[in-house]
Amino acid sequence: MTDGAAQAARWWRPRSLRTRLLLWLITLHLVGALATVWFSFLAFGNLVHNALDDQMRLVAESYAGNDPAKTPRPVAGEAALSRGAFVVQIWSADGGTLRASSWPALSVPLQPGDGFRNLSMDDPAHSNWRVFTAEPGPRADQPRVQVLQNEDYRSRRALRRALLESLPIALLLPAALLILWLIVSSASRSLRVVARDVASQDERSPTDLSLARVPEEIAPLVGAFNNLLARVRSAFATQRRFVQDAAHELRTPMAAIGLQIENLRAHVPAGEATERFNQLEAGVTRAQHLIEQLLSLSRQDAPRRATASEPVDIEVLLRESVSQLMVLADARRVDVGFEGRITPVVPAPAAELRSVFDNLIDNALRYAPEGGVVDVRLHEVDGHAVVDVLDNGPGIPADAMGRVFDRFFRVPGSAAGGSGLGLAIARTAAERNGLRIELRNRGDDGAGDAGPGLMARVHLPLTPG
Ligand SMILES: Nc1ncnc2c1ncn2[C@@H]1O[C@H](COP(=O)(O)OP(=O)(O)O)[C@@H](O)[C@H]1O
Ligand SMILES: [Mg+2]
Repeated sequence: MTDGAAQAARWWRPRSLRTRLLLWLITLHLVGALATVWFSFLAFGNLVHNALDDQMRLVAESYAGNDPAKTPRPVAGEAALSRGAFVVQIWSADGGTLRASSWPALSVPLQPGDGFRNLSMDDPAHSNWRVFTAEPGPRADQPRVQVLQNEDYRSRRALRRALLESLPIALLLPAALLILWLIVSSASRSLRVVARDVASQDERSPTDLSLARVPEEIAPLVGAFNNLLARVRSAFATQRRFVQDAAHELRTPMAAIGLQIENLRAHVPAGEATERFNQLEAGVTRAQHLIEQLLSLSRQDAPRRATASEPVDIEVLLRESVSQLMVLADARRVDVGFEGRITPVVPAPAAELRSVFDNLIDNALRYAPEGGVVDVRLHEVDGHAVVDVLDNGPGIPADAMGRVFDRFFRVPGSAAGGSGLGLAIARTAAERNGLRIELRNRGDDGAGDAGPGLMARVHLPLTPG
């Protein structure tokens, strides 16, 4: 992640929508569950307390009405503390002596006055007690009754009740998360489908993206994208038609000029005029070459019909290519060698394969020095079939390596005669048919500037068998 991205993605605003949704949902659920527990605790606490208070009063009254007083049933201390058993105390009428108690170990004196109160005692083991002191009976010698219950037990009960109440919410959390996860996953899957669609587009003839499985929220984006694609298509078509028409219109007059020049040759006086004439002829040849390149460029840009191609024998194809370029080799006295060690076949249109190799060999012949050496090798490297075109020219400066495949780019100071379109055409033709072109300066691993020549390597696609 870059610095900027790390800055943008703070923990509460992660870049993933899924994480963001889950984060907020979990937070919301936790807050909701805690609030429910708290409110239930308050509400049920009240309920539980009132109900237990009523019971205490009833118990106290059942003892107060008895005359003579019945003895309270003994309870174990443990029962009083952890199970909230009532502790009943029977006091003498003046409150001075404890006559009977269901748990004598609990030393809580008779409270002054009557009714409910909460007691905090120093003894940490059983510190908090709810106490109900019955009011004195109508006769002066009637015993006094006091009932106690452990307050911690009462709180525990209220809390347990409240927790039970919020259990559904707690159970809902994982279910909600799972559902959210599935929804977001399916949404991002359809986004990935769109992305795959976009990635597999042929940039020269992009087709509309399918809206079939796209969620409604993303549909406008895809729609807008399709709109853009339509405009790109039409812009491409316009540009291609213009180039094609222009090149086509230029072709005929240029051919006529070529013919006229051919006819004129016999009438040119020797000396400076011949020299000028040769320059003129070279210029016309170059223009014709450029027109042909432009035409093949615009043909490449046309939307392609998907048709299965017959397998082409690469060795035969290379031999044809070399022999056709022999004129250029002879003119520049370049020594051309051909070596075919393997005989791969590639299922692709022969014309496109030719335009890959023609342009690479043409370059090698053009940029090799006068009287230089060019080698074409068909062999295997690391188990893969490759075609190497080697020359002993200046090579390509490292800083221009990245641009030589651009249309109309020429390395400054390159020999006259080129248009800067050859490698662009070769690369497009190669990529459309699963071939890959790699350029490397010989001897210097491409690190230095110009080396002792260039190696253009074409990786052929793997053919079965
Ligand atoms: N074999 C080579 N040796 C040196 N430079 C080359 C070689 N092949 C291509 N280049 C450089 O790359 C540029 C682009 O090549 P290309 O697209 O074929 O256009 P063109 O040959 O018409 O100039 C050339 O102008 C040249 O500078
Ligand atoms: Mg070229």
